[in-house]
Amino acid sequence: MQWQSPICLLSGHIGFAEHLDKIPFFPAQSIGAIILKATTLEPRNGHPADRISETPLGLINSVGLENPGVDAVIKDKISALPKLKITRKNPKIQWIINVAGSKVQDYADVIEKIETSSHHQTIAGFEINISCPNVQHGGAIFGHDEKLSAEVVSACRAKTDKTLIVKLSPNQTDISRIAEICIQNGANILSAINTVAAMNIDPKTQKAYLSAGRGGLSGKAILPIALLNVHLVWQVAKTYNIPVIGHGGISNGDDAIAMLLAGASAIGIGTALSQDIRISQKILNAIKKYSRAKGYKDYTEIIGKLTL
Ligand SMILES: Cc1cc2nc3c(=O)[nH]c(=O)nc-3n(C[C@H](O)[C@H](O)[C@H](O)COP(=O)(O)O)c2cc1C
Repeated sequence: MQWQSPICLLSGHIGFAEHLDKIPFFPAQSIGAIILKATTLEPRNGHPADRISETPLGLINSVGLENPGVDAVIKDKISALPKLKITRKNPKIQWIINVAGSKVQDYADVIEKIETSSHHQTIAGFEINISCPNVQHGGAIFGHDEKLSAEVVSACRAKTDKTLIVKLSPNQTDISRIAEICIQNGANILSAINTVAAMNIDPKTQKAYLSAGRGGLSGKAILPIALLNVHLVWQVAKTYNIPVIGHGGISNGDDAIAMLLAGASAIGIGTALSQDIRISQKILNAIKKYSRAKGYKDYTEIIGKLTL
């Protein structure tokens, strides 16, 4: 992985990055990649309120992939990235587009539109969110089905030579098998885990808090689930020499180091940004300090060192 830092900011937590410029002393140098908000073929309004529900150790969200659609993303968002202050502070930041869709063709069309636009060079790669329901298959989740995963990843691969990251869902029985299928169909990097299916109920109203009824849990509560899933994915991915971005619940240096030990080559930060938007620098410092204390040449020696 050719990132100048092993830390990335996760999709859905920093929009299209425009607000980062308003944060004083934002540690741009500590970031290897920024994964932007989901982009779909058509604009989406997302679900009605409430879309976020707090739990003691994380958030349940059902934002519903709100975004202005790929044409507006190219025109207003991707075109703005080179002019951002953080790009000037760290020109090596890798900008990644998170792609979502309801049909295989939607994903492929989003990538094709970006690749054939005059702004395609701003983008380093695509992260394919395969946790979306497929409307042509009764709402089955792409990433929970071997055939649908293969179809969507190979359709995306056919549209780009850039880095293709596939983001895996923990809400399935065999993440290792789906990981292997994604690699065999063209993924260069795997990313795990997406949010964990969850629900929150208000005893007063006797209703679910979220308008969609259910959502995805992120934040501290999911770290142990993420560690296991990343370790399982890494066991497959290493046999193909494919790196894994590990994420889910990382909120401090020890969490990040545990994720590297589990097999991640890079780590992603999402929900923890709402507590501390500058947390990437603290986590990077902790990884460096740990590597020094262990006598390692750098953090890459931590990757997969877990002993069972
Ligand atoms: C409000 C919110 C919006 C999100 N939007 C997206 C999205 O658009 N695409 C995507 O692939 N993941 C999305 N995610 C999932 C995150 O990228 C990430 O996988 C998840 O938050 C787990 O990491 P964390 O525990 O560090 O937050 C979203 C998560 C939250 C909480």
